[in-house]
Amino acid sequence: MRNWIKRHGHIYEINVPIFGQSVVVSDPALVRSVCTASNEQLINVQPNLSNLFGPGSIFGLDGSRHRDRRRLLAPALHGRSLKNYEKVIEDETLRESANWPENNEFRILEPMNRITLDVILRTILGADGAELEELCEIVPPWMTLGSIMAFVPAPPFRTGRHSPWGKLAEFRNAFDRIVLTLIEGAEADPGLGDRADVLALLLRSRRDGGTGMPRLDICDELLALIGAGHESTASALGWAFERLRRHPDVLAELVGEVDEGGSDFRRATILELLRLRTVVDVIGRRVGAPNFDLGKWRIPHNRTVLVRIADLHENPEIFPHPEQFDPFRFRGTKPPTSAWLAFGGGARRCLGADFAITEMDIVLRTVLQNFRIQTDAAADEKSHFRGIAHTPKLGGRVVVNRRT
Ligand code: HEM
Repeated sequence: MRNWIKRHGHIYEINVPIFGQSVVVSDPALVRSVCTASNEQLINVQPNLSNLFGPGSIFGLDGSRHRDRRRLLAPALHGRSLKNYEKVIEDETLRESANWPENNEFRILEPMNRITLDVILRTILGADGAELEELCEIVPPWMTLGSIMAFVPAPPFRTGRHSPWGKLAEFRNAFDRIVLTLIEGAEADPGLGDRADVLALLLRSRRDGGTGMPRLDICDELLALIGAGHESTASALGWAFERLRRHPDVLAELVGEVDEGGSDFRRATILELLRLRTVVDVIGRRVGAPNFDLGKWRIPHNRTVLVRIADLHENPEIFPHPEQFDPFRFRGTKPPTSAWLAFGGGARRCLGADFAITEMDIVLRTVLQNFRIQTDAAADEKSHFRGIAHTPKLGGRVVVNRRT
Protein backbone atom coordinates (compact mmCIF):
# COMPACT_ATOMS: atom_id res chain seq x y z
CA MET A 1 0.00 0.00 0.00
CA ARG A 2 2.92 2.28 0.79
CA ASN A 3 4.05 1.97 -2.83
CA TRP A 4 0.56 2.60 -4.18
CA ILE A 5 0.59 6.02 -2.54
CA LYS A 6 3.53 6.94 -4.73
CA ARG A 7 1.56 5.84 -7.77
CA HIS A 8 -1.98 6.98 -6.90
CA GLY A 9 -1.73 9.62 -4.15
CA HIS A 10 -3.47 9.73 -0.77
CA ILE A 11 -6.84 8.42 -1.95
CA TYR A 12 -7.38 5.52 -4.30
CA GLU A 13 -9.72 2.58 -4.78
CA ILE A 14 -8.78 -1.08 -4.86
CA ASN A 15 -10.43 -4.44 -4.54
CA VAL A 16 -9.23 -5.86 -1.21
CA PRO A 17 -9.74 -9.59 -0.66
CA ILE A 18 -12.53 -10.19 1.93
CA PHE A 19 -13.39 -6.44 2.22
CA GLY A 20 -14.26 -5.99 -1.48
CA GLN A 21 -14.12 -2.74 -3.39
CA SER A 22 -12.48 -0.28 -0.97
CA VAL A 23 -11.51 3.38 -0.92
CA VAL A 24 -8.13 3.79 0.81
CA VAL A 25 -7.40 7.21 2.36
CA SER A 26 -4.38 8.74 4.07
CA ASP A 27 -4.81 12.42 3.27
CA PRO A 28 -5.15 14.24 6.65
CA ALA A 29 -8.14 16.39 5.60
CA LEU A 30 -10.00 13.39 4.17
CA VAL A 31 -9.13 11.28 7.19
CA ARG A 32 -10.63 14.03 9.38
CA SER A 33 -13.88 13.75 7.36
CA VAL A 34 -13.92 9.98 7.96
CA CYS A 35 -13.32 10.43 11.69
CA THR A 36 -15.97 13.13 12.12
CA ALA A 37 -18.66 11.36 10.06
CA SER A 38 -21.77 10.42 12.00
CA ASN A 39 -22.55 6.86 13.13
CA GLU A 40 -25.17 6.66 10.41
CA GLN A 41 -23.00 7.94 7.54
CA LEU A 42 -20.18 5.52 8.25
CA ILE A 43 -20.90 2.27 10.03
CA ASN A 44 -18.69 -0.60 11.08
CA VAL A 45 -16.60 -2.32 8.44
CA GLN A 46 -17.62 -5.84 7.41
CA PRO A 47 -16.23 -8.31 8.27
CA ASN A 48 -14.87 -7.04 11.59
CA LEU A 49 -13.42 -8.45 14.81
CA SER A 50 -16.84 -9.60 16.05
CA ASN A 51 -16.03 -12.63 13.85
CA LEU A 52 -13.51 -13.57 16.49
CA PHE A 53 -14.98 -12.12 19.71
CA GLY A 54 -18.69 -12.72 19.05
CA PRO A 55 -21.66 -10.57 17.97
CA GLY A 56 -22.37 -9.40 21.54
CA SER A 57 -19.04 -7.56 21.75
CA ILE A 58 -18.60 -3.86 21.02
CA PHE A 59 -17.08 -4.77 17.65
CA GLY A 60 -20.43 -6.29 16.59
CA LEU A 61 -22.55 -3.26 17.53
CA ASP A 62 -23.55 -0.18 15.55
CA GLY A 63 -25.62 2.98 16.16
CA SER A 64 -27.18 3.58 19.58
CA ARG A 65 -26.32 0.11 20.92
CA HIS A 66 -22.67 0.79 20.14
CA ARG A 67 -22.83 4.21 21.80
CA ASP A 68 -24.47 2.75 24.93
CA ARG A 69 -21.86 0.03 25.21
CA ARG A 70 -19.03 2.56 24.97
CA ARG A 71 -20.65 4.60 27.72
CA LEU A 72 -20.94 1.52 29.89
CA LEU A 73 -17.33 0.41 29.45
CA ALA A 74 -15.64 3.82 29.59
CA PRO A 75 -15.45 4.28 33.40
CA ALA A 76 -13.34 1.14 33.80
CA LEU A 77 -10.86 2.26 31.15
CA HIS A 78 -10.36 5.92 32.04
CA GLY A 79 -9.36 8.35 34.76
CA ARG A 80 -9.57 7.16 38.32
CA SER A 81 -9.75 3.45 37.46
CA LEU A 82 -6.37 3.70 35.75
CA LYS A 83 -4.83 5.05 38.95
CA ASN A 84 -5.96 1.87 40.71
CA TYR A 85 -4.33 -0.30 38.03
CA GLU A 86 -0.88 1.30 38.30
CA LYS A 87 0.23 -0.87 41.23
CA VAL A 88 -0.92 -4.06 39.45
CA ILE A 89 1.09 -3.07 36.34
CA GLU A 90 4.23 -2.29 38.36
CA ASP A 91 4.00 -5.48 40.43
CA GLU A 92 3.46 -7.60 37.36
CA THR A 93 6.46 -6.03 35.57
CA LEU A 94 8.68 -6.66 38.60
CA ARG A 95 7.46 -10.25 38.89
CA GLU A 96 7.97 -10.98 35.19
CA SER A 97 11.41 -9.34 35.00
CA ALA A 98 12.76 -10.98 38.18
CA ASN A 99 14.48 -13.75 36.20
CA TRP A 100 15.59 -11.88 33.08
CA PRO A 101 19.06 -13.05 32.04
CA GLU A 102 21.93 -10.57 32.20
CA ASN A 103 24.39 -10.06 29.32
CA ASN A 104 22.41 -12.55 27.26
CA GLU A 105 20.25 -11.48 24.35
CA PHE A 106 16.59 -12.47 24.69
CA ARG A 107 13.22 -11.68 23.05
CA ILE A 108 11.30 -9.19 25.14
CA LEU A 109 8.01 -9.61 23.29
CA GLU A 110 6.90 -12.73 25.16
CA PRO A 111 7.50 -11.22 28.66
CA MET A 112 5.60 -8.11 27.49
CA ASN A 113 2.72 -10.31 26.32
CA ARG A 114 2.62 -12.08 29.68
CA ILE A 115 2.59 -8.76 31.57
CA THR A 116 -0.19 -7.19 29.49
CA LEU A 117 -2.31 -10.35 29.57
CA ASP A 118 -2.00 -10.74 33.32
CA VAL A 119 -2.78 -7.05 33.87
CA ILE A 120 -5.90 -7.12 31.71
CA LEU A 121 -7.19 -10.33 33.30
CA ARG A 122 -6.73 -8.95 36.81
CA THR A 123 -8.04 -5.44 36.19
CA ILE A 124 -10.76 -5.97 33.59
CA LEU A 125 -12.03 -9.41 34.58
CA GLY A 126 -11.14 -9.24 38.25
CA ALA A 127 -9.59 -12.73 37.73
CA ASP A 128 -7.29 -14.37 40.26
CA GLY A 129 -6.16 -17.83 41.43
CA ALA A 130 -7.06 -20.90 39.34
CA GLU A 131 -9.15 -18.94 36.81
CA LEU A 132 -6.31 -16.49 36.18
CA GLU A 133 -3.83 -19.33 35.72
CA GLU A 134 -6.07 -21.20 33.29
CA LEU A 135 -6.78 -18.06 31.25
CA CYS A 136 -3.05 -17.24 31.07
CA GLU A 137 -2.55 -20.69 29.58
CA ILE A 138 -5.35 -20.79 27.02
CA VAL A 139 -5.43 -17.18 25.76
CA PRO A 140 -1.97 -16.92 24.04
CA PRO A 141 -2.44 -19.87 21.61
CA TRP A 142 -5.99 -18.67 20.89
CA MET A 143 -4.70 -15.17 20.17
CA THR A 144 -2.10 -16.50 17.73
CA LEU A 145 -4.61 -18.61 15.82
CA GLY A 146 -7.48 -16.12 16.18
CA SER A 147 -5.44 -13.21 14.78
CA ILE A 148 -4.77 -15.20 11.61
CA MET A 149 -8.36 -16.42 11.30
CA ALA A 150 -10.12 -13.21 12.40
CA PHE A 151 -11.28 -12.17 8.94
CA VAL A 152 -11.38 -15.57 7.24
CA PRO A 153 -15.02 -16.57 6.61
CA ALA A 154 -16.00 -19.92 8.18
CA PRO A 155 -16.76 -22.59 5.57
CA PRO A 156 -20.47 -23.45 5.04
CA PHE A 157 -19.90 -27.09 6.15
CA ARG A 158 -19.13 -28.67 9.53
CA THR A 159 -15.43 -28.62 10.34
CA GLY A 160 -13.58 -31.11 12.53
CA ARG A 161 -12.12 -30.52 16.00
CA HIS A 162 -8.62 -30.31 14.57
CA SER A 163 -9.50 -27.65 11.98
CA PRO A 164 -8.72 -24.02 12.92
CA TRP A 165 -12.45 -23.39 13.47
CA GLY A 166 -12.72 -26.51 15.66
CA LYS A 167 -9.81 -25.29 17.78
CA LEU A 168 -11.30 -21.80 18.10
CA ALA A 169 -14.66 -23.33 19.17
CA GLU A 170 -12.89 -25.48 21.77
CA PHE A 171 -11.13 -22.41 23.17
CA ARG A 172 -14.41 -20.53 23.26
CA ASN A 173 -16.09 -23.28 25.32
CA ALA A 174 -13.21 -23.25 27.81
CA PHE A 175 -13.21 -19.43 28.00
CA ASP A 176 -16.99 -19.22 28.57
CA ARG A 177 -16.79 -21.88 31.30
CA ILE A 178 -14.13 -19.89 33.18
CA VAL A 179 -15.95 -16.56 32.77
CA LEU A 180 -19.22 -18.13 34.00
CA THR A 181 -17.34 -19.26 37.13
CA LEU A 182 -16.08 -15.67 37.58
CA ILE A 183 -19.64 -14.38 37.09
CA GLU A 184 -20.99 -16.76 39.75
CA GLY A 185 -18.25 -15.59 42.12
CA ALA A 186 -19.03 -11.93 41.40
CA GLU A 187 -22.77 -12.44 41.95
CA ALA A 188 -22.07 -13.99 45.35
CA ASP A 189 -19.72 -11.10 46.23
CA PRO A 190 -21.40 -8.70 48.72
CA GLY A 191 -18.99 -6.00 47.47
CA LEU A 192 -20.13 -6.32 43.82
CA GLY A 193 -21.71 -2.85 43.92
CA ASP A 194 -18.34 -1.23 44.68
CA ARG A 195 -16.23 -3.21 42.25
CA ALA A 196 -14.69 -1.25 39.36
CA ASP A 197 -13.72 -4.09 36.97
CA VAL A 198 -15.56 -4.45 33.67
CA LEU A 199 -17.06 -7.81 34.63
CA ALA A 200 -18.79 -6.13 37.58
CA LEU A 201 -19.90 -3.17 35.42
CA LEU A 202 -21.46 -5.46 32.85
CA LEU A 203 -23.16 -7.58 35.51
CA ARG A 204 -24.69 -4.52 37.18
CA SER A 205 -25.88 -2.96 33.90
CA ARG A 206 -29.61 -2.93 33.19
CA ARG A 207 -31.48 -2.39 29.93
CA ASP A 208 -34.56 -0.17 29.64
CA GLY A 209 -36.90 -2.99 30.74
CA GLY A 210 -34.67 -3.66 33.77
CA THR A 211 -33.23 -6.88 32.35
CA GLY A 212 -29.55 -7.66 32.76
CA MET A 213 -27.07 -8.24 29.98
CA PRO A 214 -27.18 -11.78 28.50
CA ARG A 215 -24.36 -13.98 29.85
CA LEU A 216 -23.08 -14.74 26.37
CA ASP A 217 -22.79 -11.03 25.53
CA ILE A 218 -20.76 -10.53 28.72
CA CYS A 219 -18.41 -13.32 27.63
CA ASP A 220 -18.14 -11.78 24.12
CA GLU A 221 -17.30 -8.36 25.55
CA LEU A 222 -14.70 -9.60 27.99
CA LEU A 223 -13.04 -11.63 25.27
CA ALA A 224 -13.02 -8.53 23.03
CA LEU A 225 -11.24 -6.46 25.66
CA ILE A 226 -8.66 -9.17 26.26
CA GLY A 227 -8.15 -9.69 22.52
CA ALA A 228 -8.05 -6.01 21.57
CA GLY A 229 -6.10 -4.92 24.61
CA HIS A 230 -3.24 -7.19 25.49
CA GLU A 231 -1.30 -8.12 22.35
CA SER A 232 -1.55 -4.62 20.88
CA THR A 233 0.00 -3.07 23.98
CA ALA A 234 2.64 -5.81 24.25
CA SER A 235 3.61 -5.27 20.60
CA ALA A 236 3.99 -1.53 21.16
CA LEU A 237 6.21 -2.29 24.17
CA GLY A 238 8.23 -4.74 22.08
CA TRP A 239 8.85 -1.92 19.59
CA ALA A 240 9.81 0.40 22.46
CA PHE A 241 12.75 -1.80 23.45
CA GLU A 242 13.63 -2.51 19.82
CA ARG A 243 13.97 1.26 19.26
CA LEU A 244 15.73 2.08 22.55
CA ARG A 245 18.47 -0.48 21.90
CA ARG A 246 19.34 1.51 18.74
CA HIS A 247 18.93 5.03 20.18
CA PRO A 248 21.32 5.68 23.08
CA ASP A 249 20.50 9.42 23.14
CA VAL A 250 16.78 8.78 23.71
CA LEU A 251 17.53 6.03 26.22
CA ALA A 252 19.90 8.27 28.24
CA GLU A 253 17.26 11.03 28.35
CA LEU A 254 14.62 8.56 29.53
CA VAL A 255 16.83 7.07 32.24
CA GLY A 256 17.78 10.55 33.49
CA GLU A 257 14.11 11.48 33.67
CA VAL A 258 13.12 8.25 35.46
CA ASP A 259 15.82 8.86 38.07
CA GLU A 260 14.50 12.35 38.67
CA GLY A 261 10.92 11.10 38.95
CA GLY A 262 9.61 12.75 35.76
CA SER A 263 7.44 11.36 32.98
CA ASP A 264 6.97 14.00 30.22
CA PHE A 265 9.68 12.70 27.91
CA ARG A 266 8.51 9.11 28.45
CA ARG A 267 4.99 10.13 27.35
CA ALA A 268 6.49 11.86 24.26
CA THR A 269 8.48 8.71 23.51
CA ILE A 270 5.34 6.58 23.66
CA LEU A 271 3.54 8.89 21.20
CA GLU A 272 6.51 8.76 18.84
CA LEU A 273 6.72 4.96 19.09
CA LEU A 274 3.06 4.62 18.24
CA ARG A 275 3.56 6.98 15.30
CA LEU A 276 6.63 5.32 13.84
CA ARG A 277 5.72 1.70 14.47
CA THR A 278 1.95 1.54 14.04
CA VAL A 279 0.79 -1.61 15.76
CA VAL A 280 -2.59 -1.47 13.99
CA ASP A 281 -2.02 0.14 10.62
CA VAL A 282 -5.50 0.26 9.09
CA ILE A 283 -8.98 1.08 10.36
CA GLY A 284 -12.13 0.40 8.40
CA ARG A 285 -15.65 1.76 7.97
CA ARG A 286 -18.53 1.10 5.57
CA VAL A 287 -20.83 3.66 3.98
CA GLY A 288 -24.19 3.32 5.77
CA ALA A 289 -25.89 6.36 4.18
CA PRO A 290 -27.08 6.29 0.52
CA ASN A 291 -23.68 7.84 -0.23
CA PHE A 292 -20.84 9.60 1.55
CA ASP A 293 -19.06 12.72 0.30
CA LEU A 294 -15.35 12.54 0.90
CA GLY A 295 -13.61 15.67 -0.42
CA LYS A 296 -14.55 15.87 -4.08
CA TRP A 297 -15.49 12.18 -4.24
CA ARG A 298 -18.90 10.63 -3.67
CA ILE A 299 -18.61 7.13 -2.20
CA PRO A 300 -21.62 4.85 -2.76
CA HIS A 301 -23.62 2.96 -0.12
CA ASN A 302 -21.98 -0.15 1.32
CA ARG A 303 -18.50 0.67 -0.02
CA THR A 304 -15.61 -0.01 2.36
CA VAL A 305 -13.47 2.96 3.44
CA LEU A 306 -10.03 2.14 4.83
CA VAL A 307 -7.79 4.65 6.59
CA ARG A 308 -4.11 3.77 6.24
CA ILE A 309 -2.73 4.96 9.58
CA ALA A 310 0.86 4.05 8.72
CA ASP A 311 0.84 6.27 5.61
CA LEU A 312 -0.66 9.15 7.53
CA HIS A 313 2.12 8.82 10.11
CA GLU A 314 4.79 8.85 7.43
CA ASN A 315 3.65 12.10 5.81
CA PRO A 316 6.73 14.41 5.74
CA GLU A 317 4.54 17.52 5.52
CA ILE A 318 3.18 16.76 8.99
CA PHE A 319 6.08 14.90 10.55
CA PRO A 320 9.44 16.16 9.18
CA HIS A 321 11.87 13.28 8.56
CA PRO A 322 9.11 10.81 9.36
CA GLU A 323 11.43 7.79 9.12
CA GLN A 324 13.44 9.01 12.15
CA PHE A 325 12.66 7.88 15.69
CA ASP A 326 12.60 11.29 17.31
CA PRO A 327 10.59 11.55 20.57
CA PHE A 328 11.89 15.11 20.96
CA ARG A 329 9.36 16.16 18.29
CA PHE A 330 6.54 15.57 20.80
CA ARG A 331 8.26 17.00 23.87
CA GLY A 332 6.00 19.59 25.48
CA THR A 333 3.50 19.34 22.64
CA LYS A 334 0.85 16.93 21.39
CA PRO A 335 0.63 15.50 17.87
CA PRO A 336 -2.19 16.84 15.66
CA THR A 337 -5.30 14.73 16.33
CA SER A 338 -6.24 14.19 12.70
CA ALA A 339 -2.72 13.14 11.67
CA TRP A 340 -1.69 10.98 14.63
CA LEU A 341 -4.14 8.09 14.57
CA ALA A 342 -2.50 5.19 16.39
CA PHE A 343 -5.78 4.54 18.22
CA GLY A 344 -8.08 5.26 15.28
CA GLY A 345 -10.58 8.08 15.50
CA GLY A 346 -14.16 9.23 15.80
CA ALA A 347 -17.06 7.19 17.16
CA ARG A 348 -15.04 3.98 17.19
CA ARG A 349 -11.74 5.33 18.50
CA CYS A 350 -9.91 2.81 20.68
CA LEU A 351 -11.63 2.65 24.03
CA GLY A 352 -8.45 1.43 25.71
CA ALA A 353 -6.13 4.24 24.50
CA ASP A 354 -5.60 5.74 27.97
CA PHE A 355 -5.27 2.26 29.47
CA ALA A 356 -2.60 1.33 26.89
CA ILE A 357 -0.60 4.55 27.37
CA THR A 358 -0.69 4.21 31.16
CA GLU A 359 0.38 0.60 30.94
CA MET A 360 3.25 1.37 28.55
CA ASP A 361 4.32 4.25 30.75
CA ILE A 362 4.50 2.14 33.92
CA VAL A 363 6.13 -0.87 32.30
CA LEU A 364 8.81 1.36 30.74
CA ARG A 365 9.37 3.24 33.98
CA THR A 366 9.71 0.03 36.00
CA VAL A 367 12.10 -1.60 33.53
CA LEU A 368 14.29 1.53 33.24
CA GLN A 369 14.42 1.88 37.03
CA ASN A 370 15.66 -1.67 37.40
CA PHE A 371 17.65 -2.47 34.26
CA ARG A 372 20.29 -0.96 32.04
CA ILE A 373 19.54 -1.69 28.39
CA GLN A 374 22.64 -2.27 26.29
CA THR A 375 22.74 -0.23 23.07
CA ASP A 376 24.46 -1.02 19.79
CA ALA A 377 24.18 -0.47 16.06
CA ALA A 378 22.17 -3.64 15.34
CA ALA A 379 20.09 -3.51 12.15
CA ASP A 380 16.47 -2.46 12.68
CA GLU A 381 14.08 -5.35 13.20
CA LYS A 382 11.60 -5.73 10.37
CA SER A 383 7.88 -5.70 11.03
CA HIS A 384 5.97 -8.96 11.31
CA PHE A 385 2.20 -8.90 10.75
CA ARG A 386 0.45 -11.31 13.12
CA GLY A 387 -3.01 -10.82 11.59
CA ILE A 388 -4.09 -7.85 13.74
CA ALA A 389 -0.94 -6.36 15.27
CA HIS A 390 2.48 -5.62 13.79
CA THR A 391 5.32 -6.81 16.02
CA PRO A 392 9.14 -6.64 15.77
CA LYS A 393 10.05 -9.63 13.64
CA LEU A 394 12.74 -10.96 15.97
CA GLY A 395 10.63 -10.33 19.06
CA GLY A 396 12.44 -7.16 20.18
CA ARG A 397 15.81 -8.69 21.10
CA VAL A 398 17.60 -6.94 23.97
CA VAL A 399 20.55 -7.39 26.30
CA VAL A 400 20.08 -6.04 29.83
CA ASN A 401 21.93 -5.70 33.12
CA ARG A 402 20.37 -5.20 36.49
CA ARG A 403 20.95 -1.71 37.91
CA THR A 404 22.43 -1.69 41.36
C1 HEM B 1 -1.01 0.17 22.03
C2 HEM B 1 -2.15 -0.47 22.24
C3 HEM B 1 -3.38 -0.34 21.39
C4 HEM B 1 -3.51 0.07 20.09
C5 HEM B 1 -2.42 0.50 19.13
C6 HEM B 1 -4.94 0.03 19.79
C7 HEM B 1 -5.47 0.38 18.56
C8 HEM B 1 -6.83 0.35 18.28
C9 HEM B 1 -7.41 0.75 17.03
C10 HEM B 1 -6.62 1.29 15.83
C11 HEM B 1 -8.74 0.57 17.12
C12 HEM B 1 -9.78 0.85 16.02
C13 HEM B 1 -10.26 2.27 16.17
C14 HEM B 1 -11.12 2.76 15.03
O1 HEM B 1 -11.71 1.94 14.31
O2 HEM B 1 -11.19 3.99 14.86
C15 HEM B 1 -9.04 0.04 18.43
C16 HEM B 1 -10.30 -0.28 18.89
C17 HEM B 1 -10.56 -0.75 20.15
N1 HEM B 1 -9.63 -1.00 21.15
FE1 HEM B 1 -7.65 -0.61 21.06
N2 HEM B 1 -5.61 -0.41 20.89
C18 HEM B 1 -4.71 -0.62 21.90
C19 HEM B 1 -4.98 -1.04 23.20
C20 HEM B 1 -6.25 -1.31 23.68
C21 HEM B 1 -6.54 -1.70 25.05
C22 HEM B 1 -5.51 -1.80 26.16
C23 HEM B 1 -7.88 -1.95 25.11
C24 HEM B 1 -8.73 -2.37 26.29
C25 HEM B 1 -8.33 -2.54 27.50
C26 HEM B 1 -8.44 -1.70 23.79
C27 HEM B 1 -9.77 -1.82 23.47
C28 HEM B 1 -10.31 -1.47 22.25
C29 HEM B 1 -11.73 -1.54 21.96
C30 HEM B 1 -12.82 -2.03 22.90
C31 HEM B 1 -11.89 -1.09 20.64
C32 HEM B 1 -13.20 -0.98 19.87
C33 HEM B 1 -13.81 0.41 20.01
C34 HEM B 1 -15.13 0.53 19.30
O3 HEM B 1 -15.38 -0.20 18.34
O4 HEM B 1 -15.93 1.41 19.72
N3 HEM B 1 -7.42 -1.33 22.96
N4 HEM B 1 -7.85 -0.07 19.12
